[in-house]
Amino acid sequence: MSAPVREVGIGIVGYGIMGKAHSYAYTAAPRIRELPVRPRLRLMSGRNAEAVRAAARAYGVEETTGDWRALVDHPDIDIVDVCTPPGTHAEIVAAAAAAGKAVLCEKPLAADYATALGAADAVRRAGVPNAIGFNYRRLPAVSLMKRMIDEGRVGEILLFRASFLSDEFLDPSVPFDWRFERAMGGTTISDLGAHLIDMALWMVGDIADVSAQSRTFTTERVDPGSGRPRRVDVDEASSALVTFASGARGSFEMARTCARRPCDFWVEVNGTQGTLRFDYPRLNELLYGDAREDGSLYGMRVIRAEHESHPYAAQWWPIGQGVGYDASFINQAADLLERWLDGEWDPSIETGLRVQAVCEAMERSAEERRWVGVDEIAAKAL
Ligand SMILES: NC(=O)c1ccc[n+]([C@@H]2O[C@H](COP(=O)([O-])OP(=O)(O)OC[C@H]3O[C@@H](n4cnc5c(N)ncnc54)[C@H](O)[C@@H]3O)[C@@H](O)[C@H]2O)c1
Repeated sequence: MSAPVREVGIGIVGYGIMGKAHSYAYTAAPRIRELPVRPRLRLMSGRNAEAVRAAARAYGVEETTGDWRALVDHPDIDIVDVCTPPGTHAEIVAAAAAAGKAVLCEKPLAADYATALGAADAVRRAGVPNAIGFNYRRLPAVSLMKRMIDEGRVGEILLFRASFLSDEFLDPSVPFDWRFERAMGGTTISDLGAHLIDMALWMVGDIADVSAQSRTFTTERVDPGSGRPRRVDVDEASSALVTFASGARGSFEMARTCARRPCDFWVEVNGTQGTLRFDYPRLNELLYGDAREDGSLYGMRVIRAEHESHPYAAQWWPIGQGVGYDASFINQAADLLERWLDGEWDPSIETGLRVQAVCEAMERSAEERRWVGVDEIAAKAL
């Protein structure tokens, strides 16, 4: 008889879009990959008792609580999965780490660098497994892009560029919520930009300096609670030039005011020997141009990132069927559970901190209308 598979108790803090995506991921992960442990969706917390109960029922979570501290302290919880607005993350992460729990925190790590540093210090001190939710890394095509860069398929990287566009703020009648509040971590730079910055650091390496500009087109929105207008203090659209420590150059654009752009991002690298480009609306494909190829083949080829030799692909569907957004979360849950309890989780909270420094450098640069060194952010926080 084989030994019984150990159960790992999951507690999900927050029951919005990410609460749904993460609980779904734990449910599906063991169906996609053979895992050493079985995730058990034990608890979900939320401030509205009725709403969190309804969500837990729908997502397959056993019990609910109105207090995230009760979830963190619950003896059956092994992993605290933080799916609330960024301004609440650091306190929950620190409490979970202090209670000896593993932590998966949605991006961005916090609303500002100094607070993010506190969370990172707490997990460092506690020595618990920890990860930040940069789920897009786990799309097969994005993961393949990183692998091809590491294999030298584009040579030395000269340029990186990335855009993330949505239309969620275009309509001025969209009511005020945490996404319009800087103290809650709602800036477009840290909401959309954090994903792009993570990919840049992962694929190219450290960013040294940034020069950014920002604009808020709708400066007040109606607060559904009071019915009165509230000031929007986040950027709605930003762009930035960056220099990498390697000498490479890059550009970023992140905006939530782009008509008919639902959630469109793309990432491109140009190296001494080739170009790679990922475009989210075609998320099972990767464009690759190889400068070493015969000139008669000049152009970019479309790689179908579903071949069994590609990252993650063999666990999914037969080639040609494709995967979607959910696969990024399912692969994330499977990667973390696979390394339970002794393996290193990646990307870690420390990566969340590195990304936060670049976000804050961009925010400061836009405010002060000057180039800002990423080191300045870390130095000021000490
Ligand atoms: N990785 C991704 O693809 C992705 C996509 C969307 C959001 N996110 C991130 O996930 C996190 C949650 O985003 P979401 O879209 O699920 O948000 P949401 O608004 O859908 O849900 C937020 C949840 O947190 C709760 N909440 C709201 N304000 C709170 C407060 N002040 N204190 C405690 N709880 C509060 C809400 O009740 C809800 O349960 C954010 O950090 C966001 O940036 C990541």
